[in-house]
Amino acid sequence: MIPPDLPSPADAGPAIRELGSAERRAAVEVINTAADWYREFLPPEELHSPEMDESGWDAEAERMTWWGAFSDRRLVGVTGSEPIGDVLLIRHLYVLPEHQRSGVAGALIRHIEEISPDSVGMIVAGTYTANYKARGVLEKSGYRPAADSERVLRAYYDIPEDRLLGSIAYVKRVDPPGRRSERRRRGVTG
Ligand SMILES: CC(C)(COP(=O)(O)OP(=O)(O)OC[C@H]1O[C@@H](n2cnc3c(N)ncnc32)[C@H](O)[C@@H]1OP(=O)(O)O)[C@@H](O)C(=O)NCCC(=O)NCCS
Repeated sequence: MIPPDLPSPADAGPAIRELGSAERRAAVEVINTAADWYREFLPPEELHSPEMDESGWDAEAERMTWWGAFSDRRLVGVTGSEPIGDVLLIRHLYVLPEHQRSGVAGALIRHIEEISPDSVGMIVAGTYTANYKARGVLEKSGYRPAADSERVLRAYYDIPEDRLLGSIAYVKRVDPPGRRSERRRRGVTG
């Protein structure tokens, strides 16, 4: 059962907050429901079903922060942020099919950018090369394919070789700390 969340104003997009372990079941359900889309482009032998189980969610929670997007108090999207040195990884971005294409993933990405520590100079997100939906939202959010994509994936992602070879890394540089603090003070985002 997901605890109630503050509703967001109608035009403000989903409410976003950190997820706790009590919400792992709902989060895993969102992930596995959304991951069904992989059947459309992955060969059966490369499908991992389920995409994530509850122990996998807990293991990930030890290295990263889980975030949830709520619409009408229902969890509709999840993602994770993992800092590694001066890089922040966006991981496990999933939105329930009936809530897709309404800006939920874009809002989660923006949230991670806004809360990123000043030490972060670059945000990295990896996805399947064939995943045009994920590539679309990343490009719309200002991310670009890394020139040295395979090296970036090998440096930051601990994923099976089959996934790595079929994936692409997207990167976005973030403002240096001084400019970021100034933007926060002025309430400027995006
Ligand atoms: C990828 C995903 C997270 C995007 O979530 P979303 O909330 O729909 O994304 P947003 O609404 O914020 O962004 C929409 C943009 O993404 C791209 N996009 C999303 N769905 C798309 C679709 N069905 N067809 C084409 N482009 C699509 C487009 O660029 C779109 O912009 P537009 O609507 O102006 O054309 C969602 O499709 C999903 O959960 N997919 C299954 C899991 C997955 O692939 N996760 C990525 C793991 S890295």
